[in-house]
Amino acid sequence: MRSILVTGALGQIGAELTPALRERYGRTGVIASDLANARPSDEFYERLDCVEPEAVADLVERRDIGVIYHLAALLSAAAEGRPQVAWSVNMSGLYNVLEAARRFGCKVFFPSSIAAFGPTTPRLSTPQVTIQRPTTIYGVTKVAGEMLCDYYAARFGVDARGLRLPGLVSFAAPPGGGVTDYAVEMFRAAVRGERYSCFLAAKTRLDMMYMPDAIRAIIELMESNPQRLRFRNAYNVTGMSVTPREIAAEIRKHISSFDVDYRVDPLRQAIAESWPQSLDASAAREDWGFAPRFDLAAMTSDMLAQLTSATGAFDQPIPHEARNANATLE
Ligand code: NAD
Ligand code: SER
Repeated sequence: MRSILVTGALGQIGAELTPALRERYGRTGVIASDLANARPSDEFYERLDCVEPEAVADLVERRDIGVIYHLAALLSAAAEGRPQVAWSVNMSGLYNVLEAARRFGCKVFFPSSIAAFGPTTPRLSTPQVTIQRPTTIYGVTKVAGEMLCDYYAARFGVDARGLRLPGLVSFAAPPGGGVTDYAVEMFRAAVRGERYSCFLAAKTRLDMMYMPDAIRAIIELMESNPQRLRFRNAYNVTGMSVTPREIAAEIRKHISSFDVDYRVDPLRQAIAESWPQSLDASAAREDWGFAPRFDLAAMTSDMLAQLTSATGAFDQPIPHEARNANATLE
C-alpha cells in the first residue's frame, strides 16, 4: 500500500487527523510534514514547505505517497494580516500538491471553508451550489482552490475531494489565527477559571463543528465510492449553528462562575458577518452519508472534560508561532 502525506500536520486539524490516520492505516504509512525542522527521532515526520514545488514533488516520489491530506494554509484573520503571503501559501501550496498528485497519481483532500462564501450568499442553510463572492483573501483562496481541485479532477483525472468545513472547536492543538478561534479560547479560559473577552459580538451566529465530527467526515469522504461524488470542489458539512452567548451559557451549566465580556474586533466581526450562519449539508448526506454526532451540549461536555483532564496542558496559552517547535503528533 502506498503511503499517506499530511501537510500542515502540526496545526489544529493535523494534530488530530494525523494520529487518526495512523490509528486506521498504520503508523509507518503516514508521513506528517510541516514547516518545523525534522527531528532525527521521528522518521515519519519531514519538514516540507509547500510553496517549494520541487520539495513537494521530491517527497511524494521518495516516500511513494498515494494520498495527500493538504492542510497547510494561512487562516482567515492571519491571512488578512499578510494577504500576499496568504495567496502564496494557500494557492501555490495547493497548486504544487495537485501537480505532484497529477504526476505521481495521488488522491488529494483539500479543506475548503465557510469562508468560501461572502455577504451576497444566502446566510441561512447556505446551499451546496450558490453565490461564492467572498470579501477576504482567505475566502478568495478557498474559492480558487475549490475550482483548481475541480479542474484537476476533470482535466487530469486527479481524485480530488474536499469539504467546506465550519469553524472547528478542539482541545488538542490551539487554533491557527481564524475568526472562529474565539470558541476554543472561551473553553480554555473557562477551564482556567478566567474571565473571557470575546472579540466577536455576543449574537454573532456561525456554523461550527466539533473536531471529532470533522475528522470522521474527512476520513469518510476519502473512503467513499468515487462514483457517488457529484462535487469535486468541496461538500458543505455542518455541525451546529451557535453564537458566543449560547456557547458561554452552555459552559455556565458546568462552570457557573464563568464570565464573558465582549470587546469586538471590527476586522474579525466584519469577516464573521460575511459568512454563513448555517450550511445545507444535504448533498454530503446523500452522496456519502455525512451525519454529525455532536451538538452544542455534547461538544461542551466533552471539551470541558478533555481540557480538565489535560493535566495543565492548557494552563498557559500556546502562541501559534511557538507551536511548530513544541507540538507532538502522538
Ligand atoms: P492551522 O493554522 O492550525 O495549521 C496550519 C499549519 O500549516 C500550521 O501548522 C503551519 O505551520 C502550516 N503551514 C503554514 N505555511 C506552510 C507552508 N508554506 N508549508 C507547509 N506548512 C505550512 O490550520 P488548521 O486549522 O489546522 O487548518 C488546516 C486547513 O483546514 C486549512 O486549509 C484551513 O483553511 C482549513 N480549515 C480550517 C478550519 C478551522 O476552523 N480550523 C475551518 C475550515 C477550514
Ligand atoms: N475557522 C476558520 C477561520 O476562522 C474558517 O475557515 O479562519
